[in-house]
Order: sequence, then C-alpha cells, then structure tokens
Amino acid sequence: MTETAAAMDAKTETQKASRPFFEAHDLHAYYGESYIVQGVSLSMQEGEILALLGRNGAGKTSTLRAIARLAEPELKSGEIWLNGEPLHTMQAWQAARRGIQLVPEDRRIIGGLTVEENLKLAQIAEPRGWPLEKIYEHFPRLAERRDQEGITLSGGEQQMLAVARALARDVKLLLLDEPYEGLAPVIVQEIEKILQSIKEMGITTILVEQNAIAALQLADRAAILDMGQIVFDGSAQEVLDDEELRQRYLAI
Ligand SMILES: Nc1ncnc2c1ncn2[C@@H]1O[C@H](COP(=O)(O)OP(=O)(O)OP(=O)(O)O)[C@@H](O)[C@H]1O
Ligand SMILES: [Mg+2]
Repeated sequence: MTETAAAMDAKTETQKASRPFFEAHDLHAYYGESYIVQGVSLSMQEGEILALLGRNGAGKTSTLRAIARLAEPELKSGEIWLNGEPLHTMQAWQAARRGIQLVPEDRRIIGGLTVEENLKLAQIAEPRGWPLEKIYEHFPRLAERRDQEGITLSGGEQQMLAVARALARDVKLLLLDEPYEGLAPVIVQEIEKILQSIKEMGITTILVEQNAIAALQLADRAAILDMGQIVFDGSAQEVLDDEELRQRYLAI
C-alpha cells in the first residue's frame, strides 16, 4: 500500500513534534585515523543558546564542523536532526540550505568584496534571509562601512559581518566558534550586545568560547566536552555555581 502525500506530511509533522528542534545523537567523527568526536549527543529547543565549553583540544571545533557536515572531521556514525529533517545524510551545502550556519574562528570574510557585496553574496545563496535594511538596522557599523572591503575591517567588525552574513542566509541554527577570539575587551562588549540581540530574536545558537564566564552569562544551557566526549550537560547557571566542575574541565 502506498502512502498518500497527506499521510506522509502528517508523518513528517509528527516527527517534528516528537523531536527537539535540534538534536545530535551519538556523533563519532574522525580526521583520517584520529578518532576525535567520540559519541557526542546534544539536543536543543528552538531559541535556546547552548554554551559548548572545554579545554584546548577538547573537540569543540570538531563537533561544530561535524554538525555543519563539513568534510572533515568525517562523520562515521550518528544522527543530526534540525527542525524535523535529517542532516547526517547531507553534505555541507545541503545542511547550509536547511539553515545551519557555522561562523568559524577565522571568520572567512571574502577578499576583494565590499561589506555589502559579502552580504549580497550570502543572500543569493538564500533569498529567504534578512534583507539588507534589516541587517543594517541591527549592525549600524556595517552600514557605515558598506562600501569598504570586508577584509580591511577591524576584527570586531569582521565578526559582526560574519554573524550578519549568517542572518542574511536565513539561519536556523547558528554555530559560533570563539566569536570573542583576538578582540579587545571593548569590542568583546559590542559583540556581546549583538549576541544578546540574537538571543532576543530567538535564534538557536551553539556558542563555543574560551571566555567561559561570558558565554555562560549569555547561554541558557551548557555542555562541556573533554577528550571528545560530553562530560556535563545542564543549565548554564549550574556551571557558574559549580566551582569544582569549572576547575576540573575549564580551569577557571
Ligand atoms: N585537521 C585535523 N587533523 C587531525 N587532527 C585534528 C585536526 N583538527 C583538530 N585535530 C585534533 O582534534 C582534537 C580536537 O581539536 P578541536 O580543534 O576540535 O579542539 P577545540 O576544543 O576546538 O580546541 P581549541 O580550544 O584549541 O580551539 C585535537 O586533538 C586536535 O589536535
Ligand atoms: Mg577550536
């Protein structure tokens, strides 16, 4: 017996209803022979901000890359679901079309293009994203610098552009890898304000950050990675309150 389209739609809706908005289940990922992501599971409700923490080399970047379906590390097993759709069977560009946006540590601003061209290029890929006017409203600094070449921006401005580009692409799950990295404290405060407004807009975000206290203050939930495994998953406040946990896994 073949299923009718309506029955299949109903089935998809049931799957959506029964799963969290985002779920990574038992991810195992490798760089060649190196087994790095060792059974990571995470789940998030829509609009949550999750701080993904852990020492240098714990596997934070690798986990984000596996979720974004980049070629490396190679995901050998595990499931990734976003908004009722399986991403583990997809390639990076397909996952990006479903709304996964990774802002890597180096920000990847495209050379030779102005701020506005960087944003327009992002919009071509995903016409459902934020219009330019809305982006400029939230990032007045980018509006001022719209005709400047993107790679000549300051570190903080490049971070703003990288986040704005994700919004231009209609992001559903934002993956931020160390957005405060290499920025002066006053610029960190500016980026914090932007992340606060992202939170208010209800954009589901995984925030990887060395500055764990700042990340925990913003986040609703926290997960701690150690040697490629999740060793804590709970509220951000629990980590702030648990000095022993922080010392053991975060050295703070
Ligand atoms: N391209 C690669 N090839 C082989 N091993 C890698 C590669 N990239 C990372 N690794 C290894 O994987 C482990 C996890 O690295 P990863 O970059 O995910 O950690 P991290 O938690 O993001 O660290 P950091 O806080 O320093 O950014 C490390 O042991 C690292 O040496
Ligand atoms: Mg990293």
